[in-house]
Amino acid sequence: MYIPLNPNFQVKWAFFWHSEVPFNGQVWKSKPDDKVIKFSRGRWALALLSSSIIQSKGKTTGTIFIPEYFCNYSLTPLRQSGFHLSFYRITSNFEPDIEHLNSLVKQVGSPDILLYVHYFGFPSNLKTTGDWCRKNDSVLVEDAAHAVVPIPGIGDNGNPTIFTPWKYFNIYEGAVLVLPSIMSDLMNEPTAQANGKYAPWLWVAKKITQNFVTRLALPLHCLKPVYVKREDEIESVPKIKNPFCSSFFEKALSLLVSEVESVAVIRQRNYCLIDQLLIGRDINAKRLFYALPDKFGPYLYPLRIGNGKCREIMIALNRKGIPALPWSDLSPEVLNSKEYPLVNTFRREILTIPVHQDLTEDQINWMAQKVICNTR
Ligand SMILES: Cc1ncc(COP(=O)(O)O)c(C=O)c1O
Repeated sequence: MYIPLNPNFQVKWAFFWHSEVPFNGQVWKSKPDDKVIKFSRGRWALALLSSSIIQSKGKTTGTIFIPEYFCNYSLTPLRQSGFHLSFYRITSNFEPDIEHLNSLVKQVGSPDILLYVHYFGFPSNLKTTGDWCRKNDSVLVEDAAHAVVPIPGIGDNGNPTIFTPWKYFNIYEGAVLVLPSIMSDLMNEPTAQANGKYAPWLWVAKKITQNFVTRLALPLHCLKPVYVKREDEIESVPKIKNPFCSSFFEKALSLLVSEVESVAVIRQRNYCLIDQLLIGRDINAKRLFYALPDKFGPYLYPLRIGNGKCREIMIALNRKGIPALPWSDLSPEVLNSKEYPLVNTFRREILTIPVHQDLTEDQINWMAQKVICNTR
């Protein structure tokens, strides 16, 4: 047995010429008059939203506060815009460290924008940070990349919110920005260029092959048994050149919208099943969240391994066919910096395992047993 890293790409999404379904972003709205804008990826939604917010303040440049625990590659377009980025510390329960925010303000002034991440798809106490933003005249932007749909506490706080459905459906592009109605004039969809019409058939062929391999349970993962990068290895990540969602993936997105809510239910069920299998076990792996919300659509299941063996355990799990991975590449400003001790510990101690919609109960049981055996 082995566990595929991603859910299957559904071939019907590639062969949609029979249906011209218009994109309907209803599922990501918390209020009927919210505005939903499509992008290729979350990083572009963040960069273009930031530019619009800063322009609307009559400024040409601005300061953005980013949480220390954030993938560097998702900041690429923002860095290209030339804005000043400052990294704020988070607390051990994944909320902004208000004292650190205040000390950053003393150094660089109030930010124009504060990016707030709902880590691992769990709603956190956004009110304190929301009040802090109001006091500092900053716009709070919610990053809901780890949640497939809005739930109470995520996306319903009246802030611009970014979702990244591409991550949940194994497609290459597809992110949405939800703007509350009072901000709906702030920006429009980025205009697609002629190259937005291409169809990535090579990519589709690769996905179809991956589907076959998974269906036939061919042990091809043995060819590349270790997913975890060497410590000196740089993350190879796709360079997403365009902000707009190409028409191919826009159509895929339009078709998969109808599945988003059921996918959230399956992912929640899988998360809870892993949780139940691990609760009460005498293992060196701690759950990160003890209280689970009634409704959530998680991206991954995180575990914290505190005995200095996280990397070793990830590699051992990879060799058995489980894509256990560390979370996130960090920005150079943060990586190995003494100013940011907690996030560097998270980087060393947190591993994640999949909860995606194509996992069977048997696979989840097997995966949990392997985690238990390797963390005893
Ligand atoms: C917390 C978080 N925010 C945003 C993103 C956006 O990534 P992308 O620009 O690839 O959509 C990611 C990607 O994995 C993420 O983990």
